Amino acid sequence: MNAIEELESQVKAREVPKHVGIIMDGNGRWAESRGLPRLEGHREGSTSVREVTRSARRIGLKALTLYAFSSQNWSRPPDEVAGLMELLREYLLKEREEIMDNGIKLNAIGELDKLPKYVKEPLDALRTESAKNQGLVLTLALSYGGREELVSGVRALAAKVASGALSLDDITEETVAGALWTHDLPPVDLVIRSSGEQRLSNFLLWQTAYSEFLFSPIAWPDFRAREFAEALLHFQTRERRFGLTGAQLRRAGT
Ligand code: FPP
Repeated sequence: MNAIEELESQVKAREVPKHVGIIMDGNGRWAESRGLPRLEGHREGSTSVREVTRSARRIGLKALTLYAFSSQNWSRPPDEVAGLMELLREYLLKEREEIMDNGIKLNAIGELDKLPKYVKEPLDALRTESAKNQGLVLTLALSYGGREELVSGVRALAAKVASGALSLDDITEETVAGALWTHDLPPVDLVIRSSGEQRLSNFLLWQTAYSEFLFSPIAWPDFRAREFAEALLHFQTRERRFGLTGAQLRRAGT
């Protein structure tokens, strides 16, 4: 067993989080500190995406959500946006076999109609092809913003109330969660953000209400299977109380 497999088996021996979200930050700084164009950082970051996804599958996570492009990222310089879109297309075409061979279900959340056709088409094709897969659900947050998602959900619920299909009393935490793009995903247990920044940046605002947060100083292009397994091991040392006291939790035997 190599060192990574050893770490992964330690994670598997304890309670594995169901859903991990990752804010993949630091690609630009990683490249700039090496005198490289920012896009090289994103390219190296795609390799981290592959490695971390493989590790998540080996460990047996149910869901992994990656913040790959935010609603606000459209305002970056046009050549960086175009380069990122090319990388996404390349990823979707090259990973098809790996996704299908490993029973991964590819999912996407965000304002997907804003994506260029050359990304949207391979994305839709792979989502359709992998829809029945039963393994890891890999969700790419693309043109995604948590506030944008909430606005879209509120509009959908308001339209139902206006048409009489839903009463005000039917608006509960469950109906709100069900109106979000993540309606078929479990709540997020852990959010990892690479590269030292400690903020949420409009990622899964509703879904992270009781998440643990782990901020790693390591830039995303250097964040690989080892760093991922170490993050999960750290998560497993946390006591999640969901508003209760530690004593209450111990009495309940959780
Ligand atoms: C943040 O780093 C990263 C992004 C805006 C894009 C993330 C994209 C990838 C990892 C590659 C493509 C994705 C997939 C799924 C294949 P930053 O540019 O904000 O870094 P900085 O803060 O150092 O400038």
